[in-house]
Amino acid sequence: MNKAEFTTVAGFAILLLFHMTQTQVCPPSCNCKKMEEMKGLQIDCSSRKLKEVPALPVNTRKLYLQNNSLTTVPPGALDGLLSLEEVKIFDNPWNCDCHILYLKLWLEDISESSLANVRCATPASITMKPLRQLTGNELGICKRLLPIKSLEFFWRDLILIVVAITTLILLAWAMKFSKNSPKLDATNTVLDP
Ligand SMILES: *[C@@H]1O[C@H](CO)[C@@H](O)[C@H](O)[C@H]1NC(C)=O
Repeated sequence: MNKAEFTTVAGFAILLLFHMTQTQVCPPSCNCKKMEEMKGLQIDCSSRKLKEVPALPVNTRKLYLQNNSLTTVPPGALDGLLSLEEVKIFDNPWNCDCHILYLKLWLEDISESSLANVRCATPASITMKPLRQLTGNELGICKRLLPIKSLEFFWRDLILIVVAITTLILLAWAMKFSKNSPKLDATNTVLDP
């Protein structure tokens, strides 16, 4: 087996292992039941004072997260749950700043009905407001974060571009020198009788 083949095989093995652990592991604080007829798991994490959404297996079919202390869901955290059919996520003290947009959109895609009884706890101005009715204005509270972040990226990118261009110029210059010197030698030898 050569190096490339080995890398490919090892890569597949790691992926497979990752996939297996992802599909099998029940979050330690939850109650998991195999659903015989549908090949999936019913995961009950309700009423457990959870402050964060636990890592969930990809074959989750029913997910119960109601009556916990969840305030937010990190963007993308629920994207892997492709076989999900039912989710209960009400009775949590959701913090409805701009970061809640991910949960709102995800619930709109997955299940309008489970979005219906999800309510905001903070900020104070929108306490008890249904997440479904949240407007762009109310979500706008941390809009300011965005330009600052992009500005950081802008400067980082600019520095990278300047470094890249300088390197290219130096390289071209060095190559010109290394090409020129043998040519000079060659013309010298030709001119020499
Ligand atoms: C909510 O969870 C608490 C424990 O965190 C429990 O005592 C209470 O009975 C639960 N309420 C409901 C409605 O399930």
